[in-house]
Amino acid sequence: MEVIIANSETIHKAAKLLQEGHLVGVPTETVYGLAADATNDRAVALIFETKGRPSFNPLIVHVSSLEQAKHYVQFTPLAERLAAAFWPGPLTLVLPRIPDSGISQLVGAGLNTIAVRCPAHPVIRELIEAAGHPLAAPSANPSGWMSPTTAQHVHDGFAQQTEPALILDGGSASVGLESTVVDARGETAIILRPGGLSLEALQTICPAEYVKEKSEISSPGMLAKHYSPKHKIRINATEVDSQEVLLAFGPDTPTGAHHTLNLSPTSDLVEAAANLFAMLHQLDAIESIGIAVTPIPNTGLGVAINDRLKRAAE
Ligand code: TXA
Ligand code: MG
Repeated sequence: MEVIIANSETIHKAAKLLQEGHLVGVPTETVYGLAADATNDRAVALIFETKGRPSFNPLIVHVSSLEQAKHYVQFTPLAERLAAAFWPGPLTLVLPRIPDSGISQLVGAGLNTIAVRCPAHPVIRELIEAAGHPLAAPSANPSGWMSPTTAQHVHDGFAQQTEPALILDGGSASVGLESTVVDARGETAIILRPGGLSLEALQTICPAEYVKEKSEISSPGMLAKHYSPKHKIRINATEVDSQEVLLAFGPDTPTGAHHTLNLSPTSDLVEAAANLFAMLHQLDAIESIGIAVTPIPNTGLGVAINDRLKRAAE
């Protein structure tokens, strides 16, 4: 497996590999994706195999335009408004699938809906266009590992495997959290997975709320173990052991940890989100008895950050 800097030549090489049914590691503005041609069942199956992912976990279909998305899902008035406001960007829309549109059945893992996203990162946009097909792409990490925000993370996760055939390096992911997944079939935007676009941002456009805990539509991908590093995570830590490493937030943090990284010394939640996975990866690589994390405000992007941390702590 090769990591190469993304440019028009290497993007075309990657597009050819996708057309041949291979997987490609690709940067998006949220996290790196493990991409396959979404119309090729075998290639999509290869994603599940490569990730070691539970097969009931459906995948997001990435498109380069709203017009392309409309080939695969039925847009509602709510979805039109959300796409107009937030695409391209870290928003995924769950909508009824159009039958026989060519999207592999495996992508929706048996559901009659498909999750679609139009990403902002120029590399994946060019790749979609060069491949001539929409791309199914989960985060490019083995199942149960943290999400990758650099090409190196992708390489490390799949180092022992033959896929992805190629990893395009497009720099660090700027958002650093996965997209917000929204059920847009009704008149209210229902957040199935908190992510890089906040509830407050959605509410500037339309009625929006988090999905009710035990609702049947809650995102099937929200498995408890989904975001686990190797070391134990201890959240809401206000003091720290000298053998622990510390993930801090804000200016006033406990001292005495074996090693400390700060998500945002100025308490900026956007900066914290962008740093989250990269810093967890760094701390996880250090010998310690565990990773302590200081409290993070549960507002704006803090909700998604705490959601990830809680899962990782379980
Ligand atoms: O930012 C992102 O969304 C990244 C980048 C690569 O685009 N992708 C990503 O994909 O996080 P993945 O497969 O790791 O997460 C997809 C999420 C899961 O929570 C899954 O359950 C949900 O989207 N999902 C996909 N299709 C769905 C559907 N039809 N109904 C409900 N939830 C769906
Ligand atoms: Mg994932």
